[in-house]
Amino acid sequence: MTVQTQIIRDAQKLSEFAHQAQKSGKTIGLVPTMGYLHEGHLSLIRAARQKADVVIVSDFVNPTQFGPTEDYATYPRDEQADLEKCQSCGADVLFIPTVETLYPNGQDSTWVEVSKMGNILCGATRPGHFRGVATVVTKLLWLSRADYAFFGEKDYQQLTILRRMAQDLGCPTKIIGMPLVREADGLAMSSRNVRLTPDQRKQALSLSQGLKAARERFQNGARSVRELTQAAQDIIQAQKDTAIQYISIADPDSLDIFTDTVPEHAIMLLAVKVGAVRLIDNMRLD
Ligand code: PAJ
Repeated sequence: MTVQTQIIRDAQKLSEFAHQAQKSGKTIGLVPTMGYLHEGHLSLIRAARQKADVVIVSDFVNPTQFGPTEDYATYPRDEQADLEKCQSCGADVLFIPTVETLYPNGQDSTWVEVSKMGNILCGATRPGHFRGVATVVTKLLWLSRADYAFFGEKDYQQLTILRRMAQDLGCPTKIIGMPLVREADGLAMSSRNVRLTPDQRKQALSLSQGLKAARERFQNGARSVRELTQAAQDIIQAQKDTAIQYISIADPDSLDIFTDTVPEHAIMLLAVKVGAVRLIDNMRLD
């Protein structure tokens, strides 16, 4: 399906568009992204197209979720390619706001923060990251008046935090999680993958391989956090340019981290730097 996707850059204009759609009885699906769209993003847009009458994709590299030493300036961008992909997936609107239109009173004016969940795992190595995510997603939900918002399990902690946020704030939007999309060889799709050198791209495969090794042990009866973590760690550390930030096993709903024995339902999550590129991945063990 190829449609004419309308680009909107102004927050007020998006709000008016959404208001009109709502008034005419249409349901609205929102897919928030930071652009440089790949198949993982497109799976969300297609799901939104199936579920809602009007599909809004946002394309915004959100400064408030990047730390001072992180890759905000070098984050890959390609507006034209994103537009074409949105058209081919049938998105009605591509919202590409400026920083000023989304943060009219500056970046340090109002924050939305999910306290405990936001400080563990990725939140421990990226202080303030999830506060930035929750803040920008709240803005996007308000502006788009979305009935449904779609997020990938690739960013499992983000999805869990946003679900909690929506519940805590009594948000009317239904948060919908979609499966993680991988390359044929198992690497989790990510906009950051283009920044890997060919050699690092090979080394990055160790993330999904490590997770699979842990899952296999779990399925063969292993329940020790230490043993399962070690299985993943050995595979990742065998690659010369990898630096593990964390490998944790957690409850899939609460994200409570297990420290000793793993129960029946569990997810392994990890973050690893491959060269200068920080990658995340996760896998259900059950
Ligand atoms: P971004 O990394 O661009 O991802 C946008 C959405 O696409 C997120 O919901 C993410 O989980 C999903 N996604 C990315 N890679 C995926 C994959 N391989 N499989 C399935 N889904 C995938 O996540 C963000 O942007 C930002 O934090 C954002 C929510 C837009 C707030 O700024």
